[in-house]
Amino acid sequence: MKKIQFGFIGTGKITHSSATKILEHPSATAVAAFDLSTERLRELCSSFDIPNAYTSAEDLLSDSKVDAVYIATPNKFHAPHALQALKAGKHVILEKPFAMNAKEAEEVLQTVEKTGLTFMLGMNQRYTPDAQKIYSLARKGVFEDIHYGKAYWFRREGIPKLGTWFGSKELAGAGAINDIGVHMLDLCLHIMGNFEPVSVSGATYTKFGNRGLGEGGWGNSDREEIAFDVDDLSTALIKMKNGATVSLETTWACHTEEANRMNVEIFGTEAGASLYPAKLFYTEPSTGEYLVKETLQEPLLLPHCDRFHNFINHLTEGEELLVKPSEALAIQKILDAVSESSRTGQEVLI
Ligand SMILES: NC(=O)c1ccc[n+]([C@@H]2O[C@H](COP(=O)([O-])OP(=O)(O)OC[C@H]3O[C@@H](n4cnc5c(N)ncnc54)[C@H](O)[C@@H]3O)[C@@H](O)[C@H]2O)c1
Repeated sequence: MKKIQFGFIGTGKITHSSATKILEHPSATAVAAFDLSTERLRELCSSFDIPNAYTSAEDLLSDSKVDAVYIATPNKFHAPHALQALKAGKHVILEKPFAMNAKEAEEVLQTVEKTGLTFMLGMNQRYTPDAQKIYSLARKGVFEDIHYGKAYWFRREGIPKLGTWFGSKELAGAGAINDIGVHMLDLCLHIMGNFEPVSVSGATYTKFGNRGLGEGGWGNSDREEIAFDVDDLSTALIKMKNGATVSLETTWACHTEEANRMNVEIFGTEAGASLYPAKLFYTEPSTGEYLVKETLQEPLLLPHCDRFHNFINHLTEGEELLVKPSEALAIQKILDAVSESSRTGQEVLI
């Protein structure tokens, strides 16, 4: 069977672990890469034996050997690179966040429709065994009416390298919420099976990065002394069409007991759950005893537990993609609304 030949656009920190996962798949190979940094480009190509190192996206995308691209550039370039790749006839797996705003994301999705190519946003948290087990229980109706979801990721010191694009509104769109909040929000709505937001009330704060505090270990880009003007803490209440609500809290830096605390909690009328690790809470009907079940025997829908394998299997054998374009767009609309609500001080209707 023909292998899917990958090109990599952006060869920074995450691309090394992504390339490892992609190349673990027997039907994938890496044929090309591009980055503005020749040093990071050379590093990726030599680590993974990638034969063609390009100095522009155009050159990579005009290489007929490239079937699909993985895009992991700063957020500002996500939609432009995805559009360019689709127009060149390449399938796309894109890093989160989708885009700088919903208008950009919509343009990408219109191009996906027009070209008939495969596009997926790589929401890796959906693929873990624990997430798949709780998702499967939710689809079986175990929770009944899921009326509340709580999604949070608190890092005490987790700002990617200060002075890089990560801290710039112009290059990243937003800070912690676009980097880690997006994962918890996406997973929460995925488990709830509910991507119909109607309003958002949010607030964002810039309290640590702007003082040169709170740096963690992420990001390989060079320090350029770019000013930090994005959120390092945000909070939001999202109301859904069916009356359910979701709370989202995200910090890159704050004073808190644990260095890293993240979870998605699901509240249904018949059961509840938390995701990190997977636990189910319910009253056992036969005994009336309240149970906290930590060993869940649910079979995994996608035993490979990997976003890239899902994408490659979709291309080679039609495996259903776990992340749907319309879901990615709904998440982008919520992210936009949190920023707008914080800026205006008003609830934003979607
Ligand atoms: N799914 C996840 O859990 C996860 C984890 C980390 C990062 N990410 C996402 O991946 C993306 C990259 O993150 P990273 O940690 O690798 O960042 P990074 O700073 O380490 O790497 C970014 C790379 O992009 C290159 N670059 C900058 N502008 C470019 C352009 N116009 N064209 C081509 N290359 C360009 C830089 O030279 C750098 O090598 C971000 O969007 C981030 O949100 C996702």
